[in-house]
Amino acid sequence: MAVVPDTASLFAERTRGDVGEGIASVLAFLGRSDLISFAGGFPDPLTFPRQRAATLLAEFAAADEVSAFQYAPTRGLGGTLDALASRIETLQGRRPADDELLIASGAIEALELVTKSFLDPGDVVVVEGPTYLGAIQAFRGFEADVVAVPMDDEGLEVDELERRLAAGLRPKLLYAIPDHQNPAGVSLTVERRRALVELAARYGFLVVEDVAYRELGFDAAALPSLWSLAPEVVVQIGTTSKTFFPGVRLGWAAAPASVSAQLVSAKQNTDQCAGALGQRLFEEYVRRGWIEDQLARSRELYRRKCERTLAALERHLGGARWTTPRGGFFTWVTLATDTTELARRAAESGVAIVPGSLFYPDGRGNDAVRLSFSMVDESLIDAGIERLAALL
Ligand SMILES: Cc1ncc(COP(=O)(O)O)c(C=O)c1O
Repeated sequence: MAVVPDTASLFAERTRGDVGEGIASVLAFLGRSDLISFAGGFPDPLTFPRQRAATLLAEFAAADEVSAFQYAPTRGLGGTLDALASRIETLQGRRPADDELLIASGAIEALELVTKSFLDPGDVVVVEGPTYLGAIQAFRGFEADVVAVPMDDEGLEVDELERRLAAGLRPKLLYAIPDHQNPAGVSLTVERRRALVELAARYGFLVVEDVAYRELGFDAAALPSLWSLAPEVVVQIGTTSKTFFPGVRLGWAAAPASVSAQLVSAKQNTDQCAGALGQRLFEEYVRRGWIEDQLARSRELYRRKCERTLAALERHLGGARWTTPRGGFFTWVTLATDTTELARRAAESGVAIVPGSLFYPDGRGNDAVRLSFSMVDESLIDAGIERLAALL
């Protein structure tokens, strides 16, 4: 008779890292489709450019185009890289050189390439506390020691980081989301941006700047990116998921040439190249200025949803504290209760929220929740917050 192997005992050592208690169970109940969901950080399908994507696809087919349907170079298609570099130049005031930019299959792949290229087991990575769950998992996947430095309403507490560095903390990487942060919904001030890159140069670590929500500011112009301030110590990773649509899984990394070459090398043994079809769609979409139309509508939609959410919090949850986002998808609500338990009870009441502890590498955050207003139906926002308040 065949012996059934104990496959779990064959898993690599790195898979045994602690990814936080109960993440899987929490994510499982948050997936229910009957909930008023403030859970996922997904873009609203109302923003998807269905018609324009169909137009472009028809054009590629009619023109007998090959490149959209073929494998692409590992670094990316030349035309797409050029369109992206021009766009970055317009938005950030600095154009990445040809050997500084590469296209990835989403920001999460760009992050994976960075972690794979830099992290040995036990290396220290500093993150904002709280931070993006996918980043914690990426760093843990390479057995890094993930250390959270606190944030306040002005973003990462760079003074506190400096104190810890002076006391001997020696990270290889520091991961930050300076604009409309996931999950806290706050942005890093200009003074702190300058201080942060100065610390990176002084202490010899690399800053990984995630700009996932940078283009989704509700009104004022974006603050200078860390990469534009100090391109020699920053790897910027970006995504088209929130501005175009995530179905193409398309992102980028802009980094010093030596780092960029290493990322391209790492990409050769992941997917070898990002999908050419998505690259061509995005390139044409940018060249025709269509991305600006979509962004204008998206910003307006998310601004309205954010306002509704904050107004509902004001109405129903007067005793709590929350952040006031100026862009992006999230507000971070601090409550005097165990929010893992609250999330379970909320799901029973038909509302999905994510408990704050999922966004820390060390179990903190259980007095907070992340509310994502990006995908919830506008007309249900008030009812959702009211139900949540009734549980408190
Ligand atoms: C901060 C941040 N970075 C990266 C990603 C993932 O981006 P992508 O879809 O390009 O992998 C997300 C998505 O939720 C995010 O919130």
